[in-house]
Amino acid sequence: MSTFWTIWISVITLGTIIGCFVLLRWALANKTGVEEGEGMGHVFDGIEEINNQLPRWWTILFYVCIVWSFLYLALYPGLGSFQGLWGWKSSNQNIQSLEESAQARIDAKEAGMLVAYDRELDNAAETYDPIFEAYAQIPVEDLAKDPEALKVGQRLFLQNCSQCHGSDARGANVGFPNLTDDDWLYGGSGAKIVETLTLGRQGAMPAWLGAMGEQGVKETVAYVLSLSGREQSPEMEALIDKGKARFTVCVACHGPDGKGNKMLGAPNLTDNIWLYGSTEASVTETLYYGRNGVMPSFKKTLGDDKIHVVAAYVYSLSN
Ligand code: HEC
Ligand code: HEC
Repeated sequence: MSTFWTIWISVITLGTIIGCFVLLRWALANKTGVEEGEGMGHVFDGIEEINNQLPRWWTILFYVCIVWSFLYLALYPGLGSFQGLWGWKSSNQNIQSLEESAQARIDAKEAGMLVAYDRELDNAAETYDPIFEAYAQIPVEDLAKDPEALKVGQRLFLQNCSQCHGSDARGANVGFPNLTDDDWLYGGSGAKIVETLTLGRQGAMPAWLGAMGEQGVKETVAYVLSLSGREQSPEMEALIDKGKARFTVCVACHGPDGKGNKMLGAPNLTDNIWLYGSTEASVTETLYYGRNGVMPSFKKTLGDDKIHVVAAYVYSLSN
């Protein structure tokens, strides 16, 4: 804030408070020329105005308020660019990314000007980091048997994952995998789950409408649905063999028998568990336009130790 505005705000704020004080003193001084307790000479409908002293309790409250406002202005930022003696800040304004936020935290710490929220984070870290560090020493598979760790993991899951995977982790919506069914796109070992959370994942299922045309996709859909034994119309069933021939372009990712590839996150198409729906319409849409499910990376937001505990919780859901 520029010096002009600092002065402007300070003059108005301090002027108002001092003005209140002067007004109070003036009212107490009894400059009316009438003795206290005497009438002021005004009578309305038989009610007479008397010159009474301001009530003592009210006057004291007023003085306390004035002292309080000076204290407040000294301790907290309020007078323009004056930061207040406690260095309190409500937020890091204008921050656009996690990098900027991390940098602002470092700068503020060096200047001894941590935002209140960051101070709370520091206090929390002091208390809880040792607990997470201890958990990080235990392999995910073993940690998944520790009820206390699972409670912590569940809380982290509810805060960070449930908006996509559902609070019961069964995949709230189409495209968000169920994490409780022991059917994995990328693998369900402790190490694979940690990898998923740390690096994030991006599914890359290409679109086929251009290459195959509508009829080609229809045939392929017939074959894909037959892989998991789904019931189809006789018209579709007649197309299965043609679709099987077309499936050769799919085997690079989904495997020759359609059982999928965990290195690529290509789903198993034979198990009747569907990420994007099992109907002819939804599989057709998958083939028409492709699919690109995105699982965000949590390395920056949660950090390695917390990822470890959430991973143990996820692991426990299907083991
Ligand atoms: C913005 C939505 C979103 C959030 C938040 C999210 N996920 Fe995911 N997650 C996904 C999507 C989408 C996929 C599937 C990626 C794909 O299609 O390749 C996925 C995949 C996964 C997988 C891989 C499943 C498999 O079968 O291999 C795991 C494990 C997982 N998420 C766990 C978590 C955990 C734990 C959290 C919280 C720390 C979390 N996710 C937060 C959207 C999200
Ligand atoms: C480049 C690798 C690749 C190729 C080639 C490929 N797929 Fe996929 N496919 C994937 C991936 C990865 C996913 C998961 C997408 C996601 O997670 O968002 C997927 C998803 C699907 C799904 C959705 C499954 C579900 O559970 O909802 C179907 C169906 C499918 N593929 C069929 C096919 C067919 C049929 C072909 C051949 C015409 C094919 N794919 C070719 C990688 C591939």
